[in-house]
Amino acid sequence: MQTYKIIFIGDIFGKPGRKVVERILPDLKEKHQPLFTIVNGENAASGKGITSAIADHLFSIGVDGITLGNHAFAKKEIYSYLDEGNYIIRPNNIPAMAPGKGFMDITKDGIKLYVINLCGRIFMNLYDDPFANIDSILSNTDSKHILLDFHGEATSEKVTMGWYLDGKVTAVLGTHTHVQTADERVLPKGTAYISDVGMTGPRDGVIGVDRFINIQRFKTGLPAAFEVASGDSQLSGVVIEVDKASGKALSIERILWSGEHSEI
Ligand SMILES: [Fe+2]
Ligand SMILES: [Fe+2]
Repeated sequence: MQTYKIIFIGDIFGKPGRKVVERILPDLKEKHQPLFTIVNGENAASGKGITSAIADHLFSIGVDGITLGNHAFAKKEIYSYLDEGNYIIRPNNIPAMAPGKGFMDITKDGIKLYVINLCGRIFMNLYDDPFANIDSILSNTDSKHILLDFHGEATSEKVTMGWYLDGKVTAVLGTHTHVQTADERVLPKGTAYISDVGMTGPRDGVIGVDRFINIQRFKTGLPAAFEVASGDSQLSGVVIEVDKASGKALSIERILWSGEHSEI
């Protein structure tokens, strides 16, 4: 059986997240030899959104595709880049007039990987029904190799999407909460699933944000501008092995690099 691998890296947060990807990605690639490397970059620019320079930089260090999330449009500068770029997507279940697109295909070694980005609706109520949305996308593609970045807050909604798409897509990967879950598995009909891949960035903050500011916010109830946390960084991701012929996932493995002594 011929197989290939996909590395997916969870929400890259600010400069610490970008630096850790730059530093660890070469080792990850050497170890796993992925055909595709996809990252979620919705927090790559100071924790909110992404810029064209940052996206270009991620591509220059070996990223093949970038997905986003609820912070996709935080930096206005990215709007035209989203319209023009072939390998960067924002959530698909938003008004059609928004910049950019919600799915892309990336072809390497004769494999056309279809990548889709959708947002959940629980605690994120600006979005259209992601289940109807994915039905419509899937009815228009004949690719067997499909990866969904399902950007959502609630594990229940993400687990439901995993079961809904079992056997229809290669992988359903949750993002957005920034906390990696330990429920990775290949579902019975061949879909790799994890509720949340986790965050890539400062690990001593509150999902990437300076913890002291957040403690004050919760204690006082007063608003405060957030800052990217300092200190050590982590990289969160998954590696998926896929059958070339069928597009079905064979395995999914978590990556949580959090310092010099952790394995990748
Ligand atoms: Fe995020
Ligand atoms: Fe998010």
